[in-house]
Order: sequence, then structure tokens, then C-alpha cells
Amino acid sequence: MKAIVLEAADKPLILKDVEKPKAELGEVLVQVKAAALNRRDWWITKGQYAGIKYPSILGSDGSGIVAEVGPGVDQSWIGKEVIINPGNNWGEHQDYQSKEFKILGLPDSGTFAEYVKTGAEYLYPKPAHLTWEQAAAIPLAGLTAYRALFTKGKAKKGDKVLIVGVGAGTGSFALQWAVAAGCQVFVTSGTSEKIEAARKLGAAAGVNYKAQDWAEQLKQLAAGFDVIIDSALGESFAKLPDLCNPGARIVFFGGTAGNLPALNARKIFWKQLQLLGTTMGTQEDFKAMLELINEHKIVPVVDEVFDLADAEKAVRKMDNSAQFGKIVLRN
Ligand SMILES: NC(=O)c1ccc[n+]([C@@H]2O[C@H](COP(=O)([O-])OP(=O)(O)OC[C@H]3O[C@@H](n4cnc5c(N)ncnc54)[C@H](OP(=O)(O)O)[C@@H]3O)[C@@H](O)[C@H]2O)c1
Repeated sequence: MKAIVLEAADKPLILKDVEKPKAELGEVLVQVKAAALNRRDWWITKGQYAGIKYPSILGSDGSGIVAEVGPGVDQSWIGKEVIINPGNNWGEHQDYQSKEFKILGLPDSGTFAEYVKTGAEYLYPKPAHLTWEQAAAIPLAGLTAYRALFTKGKAKKGDKVLIVGVGAGTGSFALQWAVAAGCQVFVTSGTSEKIEAARKLGAAAGVNYKAQDWAEQLKQLAAGFDVIIDSALGESFAKLPDLCNPGARIVFFGGTAGNLPALNARKIFWKQLQLLGTTMGTQEDFKAMLELINEHKIVPVVDEVFDLADAEKAVRKMDNSAQFGKIVLRN
């Protein structure tokens, strides 16, 4: 089969003929119709991710048709249109993942290929209102945003929510999930075009995080947040406690702009704030996310679709975060 292969750090992703995988016990083979990129893939191409091995077939997100089933898997799966939960082996604790937790697309071969193999328990019906490309955009970023917002952040109808860096794949999903849940959503972004795009998706207002007074502007606009979702961190994060209502939750899961800066602890304990780390999500989070998508007929934001063969061009688009929403590869 054809697959996109990473042969070493900082080498271009190339289309190659590789051996087609075979579904083993409890597994299925999915014929991939579309796959989506995540910042994780970009980090791996740079050689900056734990447990990297070469050669690797990247890709955590995919939609497609079940082509084969391995022993122990119901034959009725064959021909079903599915999306894949890339979070494997979460384990028994809802609050955190087990040591065996792994993400599709390293260590196991991922979705940037004609076929991908996965455990049958990670298959979910593709939302009927979505194209292959839209459905493929959902899994990793959608799940992470869902858990950050609801399972950890406890966002509910009427809450004021701030999404930092809304142009991120995770950011655009957090916006769509929060709007669907009836939250009043504010955003930050590095460009006015992306703020405008967020407004079209239901954001109340937004500010540019490159402006000196971005935090002051947000205070004027919103007068306090109940939940803040941040995947950037960096120095700006230090201002977030000032923007919180008492009892607010700040949830984070990435560090695109750096690490945690020094924080004023008094502002955190006096307002009884919670700083919460999160990573991807459980099978229950995944199911609940799909219910939200299907109930509200949410259509993920697809920035651009590339042919599988152009995966290198697609991943380069992430170099300067030019995208709004998800970059997708089509087979
Ligand atoms: N732990 C997990 O489970 C998990 C899961 C998914 C992602 N992540 C991490 O979360 C982060 C986002 O992932 P993604 O795939 O959604 O990323 P992405 O699509 O590559 O988005 C990156 C975005 O970060 C924003 N950004 C960059 N610099 C910023 C700054 N100084 N202040 C505020 N925002 C800034 C930009 O937003 P604008 O375009 O609006 O300017 C940019 O679009 C990454 O670090 C990723 O590794 C972690």
C-alpha cells in the first residue's frame, strides 16, 4: 500500500510503498479516506517527541471504511463508515490514563496511509452529516478540547469561556463545543482574520494576543471568565488568573508558546482558582463528544485539504501556524 513515511528527523515526509498491515486478534483494517494533522505530527517531524522511531508512519486522525476484521471481531463491521479514537489503552481510571496509554501514529503506524490497523473498540460511526475530510478532522483535537472544556473545566450553559489561540485545531473545536453547550465564548488569536472567523462560528468577541494590552481588552469585553482553555502557555499565561472569576478553572494541555511562567500564587488561592492539566480523553469522553456533534450537527473547521502525496506541503503549513482549524489529507 502507499503510505507517508518519516525516515529521520527534519527529513521531508515521503510517499512510499510499504507492506499492507494485517488485522490481528481484536483488530480491524480501515481503508483510510481522509486523515488530519495535529501539532503532534509536526513535533515528531522535528524529532521532538518522546519515543520516536524511524521509519514511522504518522497520523492520529482518520476516517474511512472497515475493510477487514481480525479474529474475534464481528464480521458486521466490514463496510461500516467510521472514525477512529486514536487514544489506546486509557485504562480503568477516568481521571488519568494508564502507563500503557498510547496514541495512534507512533509507536503504532498511523493514518497517513491507504490502510491503518486499530483495535475494534476504537471505532465509532462517522457522523452522517459530515464529509470524510470533516470527520477525519475530529478525533485527537476534538477529544482533547472536549475533555478540557467539560470533563475537566466543567463548562456549562451560560458560563463565560476564554479560548486562547483559537486558530489551533484544538482551539477551533473548543470554540465549537462551548458555543454548542450555550457558553458565552471569547477568544484570542494572532490575526484579526482568525478572530473574525471565530465570531462567525459564534464567539462573542476576541482580541489579538500580540497586542500589549490584550488582557486589559479582555477585561473590558468580558469582565471575568469561568473557564479558560489554553494550549499555548508562555509568558502571557501569567495574566490569566487576573481574568478569572472566583472559582474559575484554567485548563491546559500544550505549550506551543513555551512553558508555565512564574505565577502570582495569591491571585490563585484567594480566588480559589483551579489549574488543571489534561491530555486527550477517555472512550466515554469520545462518545460524549460524538453525541454533541450529532445533536448539534456541528461541522469541524477544515482549513485546507491536501492529497496524501502532498503531506510534506501540509505539515509545512504548520510551521508558522497559518491555518485556522484542521489541515486534512485526502486519499
Ligand atoms: N496533551 C494533549 O493531549 C494534547 C492534545 C492536542 C494538542 N496538544 C498540544 O496543544 C497545542 C495545540 O495543538 P493543536 O494541534 O491544536 O495546535 P495547532 O493547530 O498547531 O495550533 C497552534 C496555535 O497556537 C496558537 N498560538 C501560537 N502562539 C501563541 C501565543 N503566543 N499565544 C496564544 N496562542 C498561540 C496559534 O493560534 P492562532 O492561530 O489563533 O494565533 C496557533 O494556531 C500543541 O502544543 C499540542 O502539542 C496536546
